[in-house]
Amino acid sequence: MSGSLLVDNIGELVTNARRGEADGPLGLRRNAALLVEAGRVAWLGPARYAPAADRRIDAGGAAALPGFVDSHAHLVFAGDRATEFAARMSGQPYTGGGIRTTVAATRAADDDTLRSTVRRLRAEALRQGSTTMETKSGYGLTVADEVRSLRIAGEATDETTFLGAHVVPPEYADRPDDYVGLVCGPMLRAAAPHAKWIDVFCERGAFDVDHARAILTCGQAAGLGVRLHANQLGPGPGVQLGVELDAASVDHCTHLSDADVEALAGSDTVATLLPGAEFSTRSPYPDARRLLDAGATVALATDCNPGSSYTSSMPFCVALAVREMRMTPAEAVWAATAGGARALRRDDVGVLRVGARADLLILDAPSHLHLAYRPGVPLIRQILHNGVPQCQ
Ligand code: NIG
Ligand code: FE
Repeated sequence: MSGSLLVDNIGELVTNARRGEADGPLGLRRNAALLVEAGRVAWLGPARYAPAADRRIDAGGAAALPGFVDSHAHLVFAGDRATEFAARMSGQPYTGGGIRTTVAATRAADDDTLRSTVRRLRAEALRQGSTTMETKSGYGLTVADEVRSLRIAGEATDETTFLGAHVVPPEYADRPDDYVGLVCGPMLRAAAPHAKWIDVFCERGAFDVDHARAILTCGQAAGLGVRLHANQLGPGPGVQLGVELDAASVDHCTHLSDADVEALAGSDTVATLLPGAEFSTRSPYPDARRLLDAGATVALATDCNPGSSYTSSMPFCVALAVREMRMTPAEAVWAATAGGARALRRDDVGVLRVGARADLLILDAPSHLHLAYRPGVPLIRQILHNGVPQCQ
């Protein structure tokens, strides 16, 4: 469909583009309209000044906001781990050990099986408002399986992340140094053309800080941006390593020291919090308030994966962040949109201003507050993705 499209009669528009202090963090505009041309925002302003357009959507006085930017997901896998989840709900701890179960299932699956899971989850996420979504490899852990995971991920998103260092696979259990050599050498060479980012699970039981530094530095040299899984299961050096390497984001951040918080606050590295993981592992939530009060940039993401967080719902994460992590509704909405964009070092998404990608969510609600206030309710009435209305 071509031509211009006017979204008119928006009661409350979250822009994330502040014109002054009075706008608050979300850059709210009342009684607004927004014009889309060629997939981009061509104009936005008061509805009474709205220009003519080829087509018109009447938002009926409802709230609208930028599409969610989910900056952390693992969509390329086979099988599920519902039984492991049930065991956790009966008191078993989460250790990350189940990752190897998914690795075995993923290696055994054919391309079409993996592809259909990625498509299903990407579509599920889009229906819940995620117009940008990162996704990682990390359940292949051979050169061939990591490359095919990234190829299939790349069919669904440009935000692809090489996570060959998710865990040491069983065949390398006795020689982790050799596996790190494989990841830094042949695996990275084969994976880099298919990836934008490199990630390491830096945690006890996965990769220590020296291995993580070696892998991430090789990835940087191959032209990939850095992101990390850090400080999920306990305190550790991952967050500091991320800041040292100017990572775009350190993700989880559940167990932080004062020095970690200070380092994040003084850096361009985003703290991406993944409350779906704490929900599904019955763990204490990260303290977003502490990070925000120190001046760190906070993003929210789903961590969608079959083990620790099998949700693709950003509205669910917003609600958890407000209820359990001491974020205000405005902070949580910002973190799920503009925050995610920062975590991907993007300025064309997560924001509504002239020239930005026309990714817009129209709610069945008068205000962004309802995203947290009405948890579990499908509040997204209409989605524009690249300016194109999606069938709901
Ligand atoms: O981000 N922590 C490491 N990786 C995933 C979990 C993967 C899994 O359990 O399968 C995470 O939580
Ligand atoms: Fe993850």
